[in-house]
Formats: sequence, C-alpha cells, structure tokens
Amino acid sequence: MPIKNVPFFEYPRLWLDDRQDFLQIIDEVSSTGGFILQQAVSDFEAELAKYAGVNYAVGVGNATDGMEIFLEAIGINPGDEIIISSHTMLTTASAIKVAGGIPVPVDIKDDDNLICPKALEEAINKNTVGIMPTQLNGRVCEMDAINKIADKHNLFIVEDAAQALGSKYKGQHAGTFGLASDISFFPAKVLGCLGDAGGVLVNDKNLYHNIYQIHDHGRDIDGEVKRWGRNSRLDNIQAAILSYKLKSYDEVILRRREIASLYQKNLEKLSQLRLPPAPNNNSKHFDVYQNYELEAENRDGLKNFLASNGIGTLIQWGGMAIHHYDQLGFSQTLPVCDNFFKKCLMLPMNIFISNEDVNYVCEKIIEFYSD
Ligand SMILES: Cc1ncc(COP(=O)(O)O)c(C=O)c1O
Repeated sequence: MPIKNVPFFEYPRLWLDDRQDFLQIIDEVSSTGGFILQQAVSDFEAELAKYAGVNYAVGVGNATDGMEIFLEAIGINPGDEIIISSHTMLTTASAIKVAGGIPVPVDIKDDDNLICPKALEEAINKNTVGIMPTQLNGRVCEMDAINKIADKHNLFIVEDAAQALGSKYKGQHAGTFGLASDISFFPAKVLGCLGDAGGVLVNDKNLYHNIYQIHDHGRDIDGEVKRWGRNSRLDNIQAAILSYKLKSYDEVILRRREIASLYQKNLEKLSQLRLPPAPNNNSKHFDVYQNYELEAENRDGLKNFLASNGIGTLIQWGGMAIHHYDQLGFSQTLPVCDNFFKKCLMLPMNIFISNEDVNYVCEKIIEFYSD
C-alpha cells in the first residue's frame, strides 16, 4: 500500500478552505473602520451566549486571559487553593497563580481521563475555595458528583472549557456549570479562528460587568472607568470570522463524532489500545472530540511507526501533566495520571481528514500490533 499523508492538523487549510468568504469578511469589517469593540464583537458575543445557553459572553484575547480575568473578577486571596485536574494545559494552573491563588492538581478517572471526583474531594482542606475542572478533549466531567462536592464544602466552581464548546452533560453545555468559564478559539480548536482569541461565559450580571471591565482597561460598556483593568479584547475581524464559523458549528461537531465512531469501529478489538469513550457509550455525555486521545502499549514505537507511514500524532502537553512540573514546585505522585502519560497519544481528529484517511490510520495501527 502506498504511503498516504495524514498530518495531525493542516493549519493552512483553515485559511484555504474558506479563503473567498474570509477575504470578503475581512474586507467588510475593515471597510467600516470598526476594528475594536464594534458590532462584529457584540454580535458574536450574543451568538456565543445564545449557543451555550448563558446570559453573557465576553470576547477576550485568548482563553488564558479569560481564566485570569474571571478569577480576578471573582477575587482570589493569597493562599486560596483551587483544585484542578493534573491532565490539563499548564495554563489552567498558571491562571490561578497569576490571580493570586494556589493550583492543586489531582488525579484523573481511568475511564475518561478527566478529573476524578474522589481524588478531588480528598484534596479539599481549609484553604480550598474552588474547583476548576477542565472539560478536556471536548467532554464534560462528571458534573453531578462535582456539584455535590462543591455544595457540601461550600466551594465555587469555574470551568476551563477551552476545549469543549458544544459538548454537553445531561443536555447542559460545557462552560455553564459554574460561576464562569473560558472557551478557546485557538486555530486548532473545534471552533478555531485565524489567530489567538477566546471567550468567557457567565450568567451573573455583576460578575459579567466585572469581567467586562477588566478586559477593557477597567471601563464598563458605557465607557466609564470602574476599576483597574487591562486590555484583552477580541478583535472584530476574528469575531466576524467566528460568527461565520459558528453557523456551521453543529455540522463540524457531527463530523468529528463520525470520525470518532470510525476509529472506535476499526480499533475496538485491539487489546493493546484503550480508546476514549465512544460517541454514544453514555447517554449523559455528548462529546465534541476536540481530540481523539487514546492509550497505547509501546506508545513511542507506535508513534514512530505511524510517522514513518506519513501519519501525524501528538502527545498532549508534550507529555507533561501539571504535577510533573517539579521546577514549578509540584512534587506529587498521581498513579492514574502517571500511568496514562506513559501511554497517551492523540490521533488526527479534524474536519480536514476523510474516512479513507481514518481507515488508513487504523490499518497502520493494526499492522503495527500484528507484527
Ligand atoms: C485545556 C486548555 N486550557 C486552556 C487553553 C488555553 O487557550 P488559549 O491558547 O486560547 O489561551 C487551552 C488551549 O490549548 C487548553 O487546551
């Protein structure tokens, strides 16, 4: 069989596949001279809030800024601990640090690799003020259990929903379970734009105003300065691109779920792999498959073999869970997470790949393990 090229993610296609429409959008927005905090931004914020089912959305420079801003708006005191999953991007922890708190990473569940409610509850102490679960890989955590723990211990919930726009738990959208959440529009995200961009979702009116003010130099919607702030605004051009892409977003999600089903069908018999939850394996969850992350025996051998056959794969976070950063002061053993990071690998998962591409990837994986 000839070698096929299946890159992990084809960034140029983000532009090339919609080039004509994007050129028109850029022309339209630029011709009005409305580059900053104009109609395109308020339109997209309204569409995003409606889509996720929250009262307000604020466009920000990126999801990391979004987290820092909502934590600042909530008010974190020095020494306040916020519990997170260790399987997340370092920025979930650094946002807490920047806001003045202490990030406390805990272990993951071995069935879906998201934060483990039991580990979470064990980490609670008198300094704990909140929980920030990461809705990872386009799947929402076990929010019933997490809500119960938060209520019992009087903790707030905020979500790192950077990877999860459109995913649901019992019909409720990611990013709507706590006080506030961040969404990332980084190019490779399910809803990706042409650069850095992010959004914050929030229901409470006062918190919304505080978040709004912090993201625009302390100014409220009417322009009056109410507090100290910074500049982390969503660009109008990116907002207009995101509005355009949001229109077909549900189709994109369906395609990703189709790809996940195809991987599942082709690979489920391999005892050397542990696949992520299949699209319809649990009626509580509706996953958008930001990533297709599996566990593989001889992971590095498999990765090299796939690369030599033209297939791109990725190890999330460069293979580092949060608690592995001893240079940042972490020194824990989290057995499920440690074991997972020896085996985890992400296969190509995006709308640029065809069913033939997926079948080719699967054939090569089967070939690797049959040798
Ligand atoms: C789980 C998670 N949190 C936060 C972020 C940060 O998003 P951004 O790059 O928009 O700041 C990302 C982006 O990759 C992410 O995957």
